[in-house]
Amino acid sequence: MEVVSTKAELRRRLDEARAAGRRVGLVPTMGALHDGHLSLVRAARAECDVVALTIFVNPLQFAAGEDLDAYPRPLERDLDLAEQAGATIAFTPTVEEMYPRPAATTVHVAGLTASMEGAARPTHFDGVTTVVAKLFTIAGPCRAYFGEKDFQQLAVVRRMAADLDQPVTVVGCPIVREPDGLAMSSRNVYLTAEERSVATVLNRALHAGAALVEAGERDPGTVAERMAAVIGDEPRARLDYAEVVDPDTLERPARLEPGSTVRLLVAAGLGTPRLLDNLAVLVP
Ligand code: PAF
Repeated sequence: MEVVSTKAELRRRLDEARAAGRRVGLVPTMGALHDGHLSLVRAARAECDVVALTIFVNPLQFAAGEDLDAYPRPLERDLDLAEQAGATIAFTPTVEEMYPRPAATTVHVAGLTASMEGAARPTHFDGVTTVVAKLFTIAGPCRAYFGEKDFQQLAVVRRMAADLDQPVTVVGCPIVREPDGLAMSSRNVYLTAEERSVATVLNRALHAGAALVEAGERDPGTVAERMAAVIGDEPRARLDYAEVVDPDTLERPARLEPGSTVRLLVAAGLGTPRLLDNLAVLVP
């Protein structure tokens, strides 16, 4: 695996790969890699000849008071894991390389960013779409792999790529979970042992919601209330939202139509971190 830290070098290598007829995969990350990220690298490697994993803790997507400085940055470990999983290039730019001067141009995806994570973190998605748009521009035509764990982010990036005609196919990959069901996240390291022992409450809430749909409930509001109640029953968890949405528009449907697939999403604070989880449900 080659490690490159300038935009020009990454662009040159990926241009050369495409010129040689090789398919390019891009895996944007902020590092602190876990099995979820590595599953993205493996998915990319199965479909592409060259896999560029990017490691960049993007200041633009952190608000004041969030964990930008504390965000884990185990670079050497990340590089080893990325190489073992099949990445062929690691892109590790500095903040100065990515943002040589304060950006006067940012990317905003309207609508999809207004609810859920966007409501909880109002400046977050503009930071994500701005850096991902830059990475897409630097990388050029490719397949780009994102985890479904950040389902709203995936929908927002998909919409951005479509609206801006970016030459990138956005690929969503399934959530990777710990054996007890907790969705893997770089922020799980912030959980104390006690918080970790109750962190599965998010996954339990999703399954309670899914069970209601499978038992015939067709009112999304009732399903959302059930999920909220499960999280509300855990005294250490601070419910942020419980939602039932169309997977493309992220809007709550009026009714759950048989044969449609909806996405259940929950977020809750547990000690320091906010945890997110989601589940696809086919309405019977
Ligand atoms: O999901 C993440 O790790 C980040 O939001 C991303 C997509 C790498 C942009 O910084």
